[in-house]
Amino acid sequence: MSEARSIGTAPGKVILFGEHAVVYGRPAIAVPVTQVQAIVTVEHARDGFLIVAEDLGKTHFVGQPGDEQTCPLEVTVRNTLAYFGLPIEQNLRLSIRSTIPIGRGMGSGTAVSTAIVRALAAHFARRIPPDQVCRLVFQTEIIYHGTPSGIDNTVIAYGKPVYFIRDQRLETFTVGHPFRLAIADTGIFSPTRVAVGDVRHAWERQRARYEALFDAIGDITNRGRKAIETGDHETLGRLMDENQALLREVGVSSPELERLITAASRAGALGAKLCGAGRGGNMIALIAPEVEKAVVAALQSAGATQVLVTDVGQV
Ligand code: PMV
Repeated sequence: MSEARSIGTAPGKVILFGEHAVVYGRPAIAVPVTQVQAIVTVEHARDGFLIVAEDLGKTHFVGQPGDEQTCPLEVTVRNTLAYFGLPIEQNLRLSIRSTIPIGRGMGSGTAVSTAIVRALAAHFARRIPPDQVCRLVFQTEIIYHGTPSGIDNTVIAYGKPVYFIRDQRLETFTVGHPFRLAIADTGIFSPTRVAVGDVRHAWERQRARYEALFDAIGDITNRGRKAIETGDHETLGRLMDENQALLREVGVSSPELERLITAASRAGALGAKLCGAGRGGNMIALIAPEVEKAVVAALQSAGATQVLVTDVGQV
């Protein structure tokens, strides 16, 4: 066991195609976003085991009765130590910092859990393969989301673009030609659990309609994968627009998202859609380098609280 500080990090993510439909067994595509990160440091503490969320100014003491099953951070810590065959009684300070916006569909909670697993592995000098990181973090996802598909923990644990179908072996794929995304935040906190729950109620009431929508989204995801592999950005953008039209039908868009999507398209984006659970959170726009400035400015004047630009497939 090392006495020095150990660090674990994890990136954010966006879903390019297939959110919500992925919960119902259709494929989805997600990519990591490395400009934003969760960073966890572990160091020895004198007395007890504490988790400090530095950005939020909150401290959690591990081992308080009642928190074992409900505090996502504690659950991650307990499962990770159990995986390594270590007791929960430790004198440790775990400090969390993150630049990933919370509740905006960029995987902030998942990235924090992933960084915790990695930081503990580093502290105890253990190796842990990505599939096991993914499995451990999934257990925490259940607390956050109720019925997660598993796409968030998968893309963040592997740190590469993924083509994901629930309960199937992971497929990664190659990006034929790197592409650029603008990611714009509505500033609206939107818990995934709520949006996913509302979609489930709607699906229960109108099963045939929702199954058809999910089939159409699954088909777009498959065509999107081909467009990414072949580097066909025109098609990729058009498919993003088509996916957005279906997400609107699913009932997870919002006026704020629509405003940003329209602004990006008018400023020259090749395609735009919400990403993640919707209702608020972020949207993504596919942009050629020459329209980047115009699209970013349009997103800002349409109310985006933050705009990130990221390249996907850059080696
Ligand atoms: O965590 P978010 O907001 O990126 O949403 C995850 C995507 C959903 O398909 C809406 C839910 C899931 O579990 O896949």
